Amino acid sequence: MANAFKDQVLAGKTAFVAGASSGINLGIAQHFARAGAKVALISRSHEKITAAAQTITDEGYEAIGMAADVRDFNSVDQAMAKAHEMFGKFDIVLSGAAGNFVAPALGMSSNGFKTVVDIDLIGTFNVLRASFQYLNRPGASLISITAPQAVNPSVFQAHVCAAKAGINMLTKCLAMEWGPAGVRVNAISPGPIADTEGMARLAPTPEMEKAIKSRIAMRDYGTKTDIADTALFLSTDNAKYITGTIVDCDGGSKLGDAGADALGEFA
Ligand code: HXC
Ligand code: NAP
Repeated sequence: MANAFKDQVLAGKTAFVAGASSGINLGIAQHFARAGAKVALISRSHEKITAAAQTITDEGYEAIGMAADVRDFNSVDQAMAKAHEMFGKFDIVLSGAAGNFVAPALGMSSNGFKTVVDIDLIGTFNVLRASFQYLNRPGASLISITAPQAVNPSVFQAHVCAAKAGINMLTKCLAMEWGPAGVRVNAISPGPIADTEGMARLAPTPEMEKAIKSRIAMRDYGTKTDIADTALFLSTDNAKYITGTIVDCDGGSKLGDAGADALGEFA
């Protein structure tokens, strides 16, 4: 992709983005719009999702924001039906709604655990499953947002680790089932991303932020644009033979830091 925006690589395409009122997913929706796609956005809050869509229409692109809870299949389906009516079949579906809080398993009720699994994992199934009838097939690209916690266990994140691990396996199963219909199914695993609600919750102090950066190969947080660029690539024909993969865009976070202290002057 020489210049995704100048070349309008998504011209004529429609994208549906779930969990798009803020953060990484809004950055992705904005990126898709700037590359030429019409974008439909959902989140729980009517006020927030309308404002998010407005950031896109203010730039002169086509967008609609609708309130829908990914835990409720019918509300997702209704939003998709409206988006389909307005913008036509979906070429791209991005499932990124998520919830997180930091708590030990013993400080978490059954409902607390279930809430995150419902939003992240069941929500992703609902979004991808509901989208199938509205997809432009063959050629559609479905992308979920997972996290390094899907493969790296973490204290105080049992709910997120379990939910995101489920998303990774769901990605692979759906890729197998829907590949014959010409539908690609992938996930992006972002590392710690600057200026997001996720990192505000996980590393609320400068000391925690510094400690996390010291354990990442690239020694820094990523940006929302890093993730949006990855989603854009997966949405184009440049990625037409890529399916069933978890694309790490994490500065090497998932590698861990075993032996990193011994790097000394070589760091
Ligand atoms: C323990 C908690 C808790 C906490 C909530 N609960 N916060 N338990 N410690 N800090 C429990 C509640 O007590 C309740 O259980 C249950 O969770 C549901 O809480 P509600 O507030 O009713 O849920 P809801 O309104 O649906 O809100 C969901 C939420 C909330 C996840 C709790 O934080 C939210 O809306 N988050 C969305 C935004 C967000 O989290 N963004 C960050 C995504 S980042 P009981 O038993 O009392 O009924 C991310 C990062 C991944 O995913 C990896 C990064 C590297
Ligand atoms: P964020 O800004 O809080 O984004 C989460 C979005 O999900 C919000 O728009 C929220 O909007 C929406 N949402 C929550 N529950 C929903 C529900 N039930 N139905 C519909 N929408 C819902 O957080 P973020 O940090 O940018 O994270 C975005 C994605 O990246 C998540 O999947 C997260 O797990 C993943 N991730 C983040 C990081 C990071 O460093 N931040 C790292 C790895 C992975 P409403 O409140 O309006 O519903």
